[in-house]
Amino acid sequence: MKYRKMGRTGLNVSALCLGTMQFGWTADDAGSVAVMDAFVDGGGDFIDTADIYTTWAGDKSRGGRSEEIIGEWLHSKGNRADIILATKVRGRMAEGPNGEGLSRSRVIQCCDDSLRRLRTDYIDLYQCHWTDLNTPIEETLSALDDLVRAGKVRYIGASNYPAWRLMEAVAVSEKRGYARFETYQPEYSVIERQLFEYEAKPFCTHYGLGVIPYSPLAGGFLTGKYRKDAPKPASERADGALGRYGNERGWELLSGMDEIATAHDANVAQIALAWLLAQSVMTAPIIGANNPEQLAELLPATEITLTQDEIDRLNNLTKWVRNGRPIWD
Ligand SMILES: NC(=O)c1ccc[n+]([C@@H]2O[C@H](COP(=O)([O-])OP(=O)(O)OC[C@H]3O[C@@H](n4cnc5c(N)ncnc54)[C@H](OP(=O)(O)O)[C@@H]3O)[C@@H](O)[C@H]2O)c1
Repeated sequence: MKYRKMGRTGLNVSALCLGTMQFGWTADDAGSVAVMDAFVDGGGDFIDTADIYTTWAGDKSRGGRSEEIIGEWLHSKGNRADIILATKVRGRMAEGPNGEGLSRSRVIQCCDDSLRRLRTDYIDLYQCHWTDLNTPIEETLSALDDLVRAGKVRYIGASNYPAWRLMEAVAVSEKRGYARFETYQPEYSVIERQLFEYEAKPFCTHYGLGVIPYSPLAGGFLTGKYRKDAPKPASERADGALGRYGNERGWELLSGMDEIATAHDANVAQIALAWLLAQSVMTAPIIGANNPEQLAELLPATEITLTQDEIDRLNNLTKWVRNGRPIWD
């Protein structure tokens, strides 16, 4: 495992962050614990969750379950000081008109609830999961700043914000002397580039936010288990992955990745992660794994250095296209 500075901060984190959206959803409690154990054994220390994981899983889960599983694990291992823990606030966690959002009262209440579920007295990185345009940015940032000053939160970050709102947030923090967003968590992978690269990437580069992208394997498509003429893999995410990426562009990308993987004696997933890790704005891709076997196939990615020719080849295979022509050509 390699370690990297989290953006411009002095904090070092493992170059792969463990996502935990699958805990209590596609990974049961024992499987979730096994994944965390394997991650730490492999040198990982950076773990990402959210209060709402996983409200969408119906009877199989509920909001807060991922945090509870992590909290029980931290407590039983006694390893809180060795882990960099990131969680998020914004989604609906209660009934009623104030059951979601980024108001002062919501942010402070949700932080206390996350601390209780995580069985800790501080969160290393507290992130706004997505924007709340009904709340003034000053209100959200002042509440987050209070949490930092109270010692409940060490750094703050944002996820899924459009670049203009990130800019507004950083400007307000600087003007008022509040804690600033130090990280940005976008959806980003070699097959899903434009959303982040168009505006937020140059913003993060310029202002020194550490990027921790989610879905770096495009929900499993970039593991290579989805193939043009092969049967659909048994996965809860198969329809979503195939619906989005199971087309000529996706299959061509996978063949290019196969060749690059062979040259590195690696697998396709490792190449997808190495492509992200080659970017200077990157702090740590957030990987999801349902079991230690899946995780073991991902961790060696930090040891792979792609050549510039390989990076160019992947970039060419996934150029943004508008009106049938590549943009930026
Ligand atoms: N901020 C946000 O809005 C947001 C949104 C989404 C996720 N996230 C965070 O990002 C994390 C990762 O997102 P993600 O799960 O979409 O990431 P991903 O890495 O793109 O996809 C992970 C999925 O790929 C499959 N997979 C992983 N390793 C594999 C292997 N070696 N072989 C075969 N299949 C493998 C597994 O799905 P199957 O086995 O089920 O096929 C796994 O659930 C989440 O846990 C969460 O912490 C944040």
